[in-house]
Amino acid sequence: MGKKVITEYDSEGSAIRTYESYDDPWGMPPTNSFFQKLTLTKLANKFGTDKGTTTGCCSGFTLLYEHYFEYSRHDKINILEIGLNNGGPEHGENNMNRKIEDFPSIRMWHEYYHKADIWGFDINALKTSDTDLERFRFFQGDQGSLDSYKDFKKVLKQVYNKTSEIFEIIIDDASHAFYHQQLSFINLASLVKIGGFYIIEDTHWQPNEDKTKPGQGRAVFDFRLLPETVDTTTLFDNGGENRAGEGRPLVPNSTSANERFKQLRPEIYNDFVKMREKFEVLDRKPWLDDLWRYPIGQLPKSNLILLRRKK
Ligand SMILES: C[S@@+](CC[C@H](N)C(=O)[O-])C[C@H]1O[C@@H](n2cnc3c(N)ncnc32)[C@H](O)[C@@H]1O
Repeated sequence: MGKKVITEYDSEGSAIRTYESYDDPWGMPPTNSFFQKLTLTKLANKFGTDKGTTTGCCSGFTLLYEHYFEYSRHDKINILEIGLNNGGPEHGENNMNRKIEDFPSIRMWHEYYHKADIWGFDINALKTSDTDLERFRFFQGDQGSLDSYKDFKKVLKQVYNKTSEIFEIIIDDASHAFYHQQLSFINLASLVKIGGFYIIEDTHWQPNEDKTKPGQGRAVFDFRLLPETVDTTTLFDNGGENRAGEGRPLVPNSTSANERFKQLRPEIYNDFVKMREKFEVLDRKPWLDDLWRYPIGQLPKSNLILLRRKK
């Protein structure tokens, strides 16, 4: 991450102007042409992650990531994604021992960030450790287990000789259970470098919400089986009121989400708040200036939490 020379192009591909981008890309205006834009989204669609615009729920998160990440795509950064392939135990207990055959979003990051080290963390094992991705490293762990975080940090210590400020980007796309999201944030967010990003995806969905679908067993991480907590989104909305969906633990309107969180989970509340103070919540909505860049009718969904580590 650092100062960059940026060239803007018109729709014909001719250079309009060249200038230095900010050291701190926070607040950096959208700078890229249609031709430079959407690369991450194209890769998402090519490899079939639902962060793109053609697979599964088509969250379009990559449309938003293009805006924040493009300035660093040629840097030798470190990325960690928790949750590698759809169909894990968050969808049914019989998936606990499945083997991960592919990792579409890891492939996407690997190609987009062509110099980066890409780490993957998942509860399921890989089918084979033999992959064609030379900068990919895998750790098998459970985001609900404190031991997994300890072991993961031991591995990081061996590689980087430290256990904090290692990653430019961490993405939590694992079970999506609020309790898990909160544990991961407490245990992993200190691994984000100053100025780096911590992202929690798919905040609208809880494990077992789709249990009625044919073939779906009861999810191992059914949110009703985990310690009760509040909707993670509310904890990053300035203590706003809970907007929990149907069947989720409801916070009465009169009680702030923070207070309710403290009541329900006193053992993690302080650590959570301390960590949250180190981060800024970024805008999840597209900028007006950016709208013309998106494929017709396609906007990124806003059910994610985008955080940036403060200086
Ligand atoms: C939504 S999928 C990930 C999709 C992938 N990131 C993509 O964009 O294509 C969720 C993944 O999280 C993993 N997972 C579920 N519960 C987990 C847990 N408690 N700890 C770690 N990983 C978990 C599942 O095995 C599954 O691979």
